[in-house]
Amino acid sequence: MKILIVNGPNLNLLGLREPSIYGDTSFEGYLENVLRPWSDGRCTLDYYQSNVEGELINALHGAIGQYDGIVINAGAYTHTSVALADAIKAIGLPVVEVHISNVCKREEFRHTSYLTPVCVGAIMGFGMDSYRLGVEALLK
Ligand code: DQA
Repeated sequence: MKILIVNGPNLNLLGLREPSIYGDTSFEGYLENVLRPWSDGRCTLDYYQSNVEGELINALHGAIGQYDGIVINAGAYTHTSVALADAIKAIGLPVVEVHISNVCKREEFRHTSYLTPVCVGAIMGFGMDSYRLGVEALLK
């Protein structure tokens, strides 16, 4: 199984950004030291990050015919982007929404997700392990 992990805005700063919420590990560090070794033999993982909404949409379109599923942390676009939700609907691939923090325990504006209704499911609040759980959900 081929899985694409997509990270949205500000997630390139994981490790530096608000470590009390998001931890002190970069995504690249987590991917190479934890996620790839864990996934070895179970699936192939590719990773894409952008701070630009249109580029995230292009990455979703580009996944058609290339991947079996997607794990996406759209960052703040989760709470604003009809365009990303439409892209997820359009591509016809299983997409799992993930968040490092439990967005439902945070500010009110983070309680709305435009993506949850078009994803197969959502995982939140387990720190970086949310990504592994997202991959595992796709594998199952
Ligand atoms: C986040 C939660 C979002 O509300 C926030 O804008 C992020 C990260 C998370 O992983 O917890 O950028 O998606």
